Amino acid sequence: MATALQIHVSGIKLPISLSPNATKQSSRVSKREGRIRCSATTPNKKYTIAVLPGDGIGTEVTPVAVEALRLAGSLEGLDLRFEELPIGGAALDLVGVPLPEETLRKAKQSDAVLLGAVGWPKWDDNPKHLKPITALLQLRAGLEVFSNLRPITVFPQLVDSTYLRKDTAEGVDLMIIRELTGGIYNAHPRGFTTNEQGDEVGFCTESYSASEVDHIARVAFDIAKQRRSKLCSVDKATVLEGSMLWRKRVTAMALEYPEVEVNHLLIDTAAMDLVRHPRQFDTILTGVMFGDILSDLAAMIPGSVGLLPSAALGDSGPGIFEPVHGSAPKHYGKDTVNPLAAVLSAAMLFRYGLKEENAAKRIEKAVSDVLDRGFRTRDIHTPGTTLVGCKRMGEEILRSLDARVSASNGSLV
Ligand code: IPM
Ligand code: MG
Repeated sequence: MATALQIHVSGIKLPISLSPNATKQSSRVSKREGRIRCSATTPNKKYTIAVLPGDGIGTEVTPVAVEALRLAGSLEGLDLRFEELPIGGAALDLVGVPLPEETLRKAKQSDAVLLGAVGWPKWDDNPKHLKPITALLQLRAGLEVFSNLRPITVFPQLVDSTYLRKDTAEGVDLMIIRELTGGIYNAHPRGFTTNEQGDEVGFCTESYSASEVDHIARVAFDIAKQRRSKLCSVDKATVLEGSMLWRKRVTAMALEYPEVEVNHLLIDTAAMDLVRHPRQFDTILTGVMFGDILSDLAAMIPGSVGLLPSAALGDSGPGIFEPVHGSAPKHYGKDTVNPLAAVLSAAMLFRYGLKEENAAKRIEKAVSDVLDRGFRTRDIHTPGTTLVGCKRMGEEILRSLDARVSASNGSLV
């Protein structure tokens, strides 16, 4: 049965249908009405979002995130234009390279990039320059997004999903700041050779320069300051020269931030402490490789990599916003995956990419509301909750975004 509700914004009353079976329809209606409402007050701010769904489940979760962006944006009076572009295996199929020039060019011209995931078994044996994930590295380099923000949050509603003890996971709210365009991933020299014994050798030399460390460390200190002013820098300074320099520069920068409490952990200890006592962490600063490992490890605190969003940011220009998970060929095409990592990445796109904090909060509140209403995808499903697929989860998010308008009775939440 459809419930007729009225939304009151800017003095205009609009009926919304919230019939349980008409979610899509109601979201379409409110999308249109959101624009009408806002045009009655101030002209809409316009943004162009480059949408790169990529491969596998990237193509399932990205449309959900786009709809969340569109509706939350519309409710905030933002005019978002989406431009879909190929990347990864999808681009290899189309034009024979993983990152077409046009994709990079248009991504550079956009206000923000929303990315799904890249990779597909069909391309696994390709030479490196023709592998889907090469596109990701090229895009990061092309947009000069050197800082990777990976928040790990245990939603109170999902504490049963943790792989840790519940009392260990409860209340965790930390941010991993991972250096993204330097370090061992971007090592020179690197390659393959043969040593004097005729043995084949693969090598990749990690280096970090002082300015690279300072660049990312400043981002981390500034973010820590806005959070709980606790920064943990993770390295392997007992063994690696790059780490020794890393620790020296972070220690020096700490003098500029007397209000931030700083400690240094070795990567092995940090991994142990993240599962033993994760609540001790607030902001974690680390390099590209350790950050990659720690963020997947930390995903087990909330219980699923399907919950982890990320932002990759530069000094200027568009950022890349993407779920931490990959293209998951095994799960593709079954409508079972969790779109929340992508949807929360959309919230980060608003917050860090467009500086539209209210729109970001709308999405985050909608996610929390959907969890309150008991909807769970398979990866976070626990007894007593309602198992849904990716699409249905998306519909429920739109419903929650709509409901926020009616519940707020006009004042934008
Ligand atoms: C990630 C991924 C990528 C990375 C791969 C696909 C290159 O694992 O974003 O965490 O290591 O950066
Ligand atoms: Mg990874």
